[in-house]
Amino acid sequence: MRSEVYNIDCMEFMKDLPDKYFSIGIADPPYGLDKKSTQGSGKLKNRTLNKHDMTWDVRPGQEFFDELRRVCQHVIIWGGNYFNLGPCRCFVCWDKQQVWPNFSQCEFAWTDFDMPAKHVTISNRGGLIDSVNWHPTSKPVELYRYLLKVFGAGDRGGDI
Ligand SMILES: C[S@@+](CC[C@H](N)C(=O)[O-])C[C@H]1O[C@@H](n2cnc3c(N)ncnc32)[C@H](O)[C@@H]1O
Repeated sequence: MRSEVYNIDCMEFMKDLPDKYFSIGIADPPYGLDKKSTQGSGKLKNRTLNKHDMTWDVRPGQEFFDELRRVCQHVIIWGGNYFNLGPCRCFVCWDKQQVWPNFSQCEFAWTDFDMPAKHVTISNRGGLIDSVNWHPTSKPVELYRYLLKVFGAGDRGGDI
């Protein structure tokens, strides 16, 4: 399997792509939580999000979602509950096994698949513990392995 990594504004990257170029686009755009993601005192003062520069956390406009859906045959969009994406049958609920009650217990992904909704339990510890020098909202590799298995190939007849 070939992988390519681009360090580029995604709008710049997508603008020259033909329609339906990718079979699936999995996007994890900024949720635009602003102060809600960097609040807290006492123990919360040291939470991962408080130690990071969060200036990137600017919610994308409708043009991002339009362009993403233009270049992808199917999309999976994390944080779908923060955006106006319309009804969806097959949402994904990721149970993060978060033990702190004042942190999100799960994350919601909006998809355009016509399949039953999904629930998956995968610990986010790998992504957040000792991650001061990492990305503050990193998602576990295992979660993406799951998405590609369920939506990419596994249940639909191919290899991951
Ligand atoms: C919620 S985080 C994604 C975290 C990622 N899923 C991971 O596991 O590390 C959103 C990311 O989108 C990036 N971003 C924001 N606007 C962007 C744009 N126009 N083009 C490309 N990336 C952008 C931010 O810098 C941030 O790293």
